[in-house]
Amino acid sequence: MIENLIELKDVSKKFKDKNDDIVILNKISFKLPSNKLVALTGPSGSGKSTLIHLLALLDTPEQGVYKLLTQDNLFSFDEKQKSNYRKKNLSIVFQNFNLISDLTALENVMLPNLYLGEKKINSFNLAKSLLIQVGLENRLNHLPSELSGGEQQRVAIARSLINKPKLILADEPTGSLDAKNAENILEILKSIKDDKALVIFATHNKSLVSKSDLELTISNGNVIFN
Ligand SMILES: Nc1ncnc2c1ncn2[C@@H]1O[C@H](COP(=O)(O)OP(=O)(O)OP(=O)(O)O)[C@@H](O)[C@H]1O
Ligand SMILES: [Mg+2]
Repeated sequence: MIENLIELKDVSKKFKDKNDDIVILNKISFKLPSNKLVALTGPSGSGKSTLIHLLALLDTPEQGVYKLLTQDNLFSFDEKQKSNYRKKNLSIVFQNFNLISDLTALENVMLPNLYLGEKKINSFNLAKSLLIQVGLENRLNHLPSELSGGEQQRVAIARSLINKPKLILADEPTGSLDAKNAENILEILKSIKDDKALVIFATHNKSLVSKSDLELTISNGNVIFN
C-alpha cells in the first residue's frame, strides 16, 4: 500500500470581487504520495498559485482539511504553528525567486538552516554542497544581481532544499527560463523527488508536464488527475 504524504479534503477558496464571491477552488479533494513529481496545470487564473499558497500554509481556505503525514489539519494551526511547521517540513520556490539581494548565493541558501538553529559551519557545508549539486560551484559568492535568471532560480531551489522538506512547492519555477534551463530545473526537481520528497510545481510548459509522474489540472474550481 502506498502511504499518502498529503491529503486535501473538501477545500474551498473564494475571493471577494466587489459584491460577488469568485469561487476559485470548489471543495477539492485529492491525495498524493511521496517520491512523485507532480505538474499542476490549468489555464491562467484557474487557481494554481492559489492552491500552491494554500499548500504552503501562506493562505487559509474558507473550509477544508489538509493532512500531511500525521498532522490532522494544518489549516487549523495558528500563524506561529504554521510558520514553525513550514520551516521544518515544506518549502516553496517562488516565480520571482525572492532571494535576499544583499546576501550571496551561499548566504541565501544557508539562511533557512540558520533559522532552524543549525551551527554556521554545518549550514555552510550543506549550502555549498547543494549549490554544487545545482551546478553553481563557481557562483557561491555572487550576489543575486550578479546571477542570471536561471542561476537565481537554481539558488532558490537549493535554498528550498536545505532543511530537507518532505513537500516542495514551486510556482512556475521555469516560467522565465529558456528551454534548456527549464529542462535543467526539471532534472533538479526530479533528483529531489528521488530523495523521497513530493514535488508539486505549477507550469504551463507541456514538455515539462510530459516528463512528470502525474498531472493535476485545475478546471472550473475542480481538480482532475490526467
Ligand atoms: N488576493 C486576491 N484577491 C482577489 N482575487 C484574487 C486574489 N488572488 C487571486 N485572485 C484571483 O483568483 C484567480 C486565480 O488566481 P491564481 O493566481 O491562483 O491563478 P493561476 O492559475 O496561478 O494563474 P497563472 O497561470 O496566470 O499564474 C484569478 O482570477 C485571480 O484574479
Ligand atoms: Mg500563478
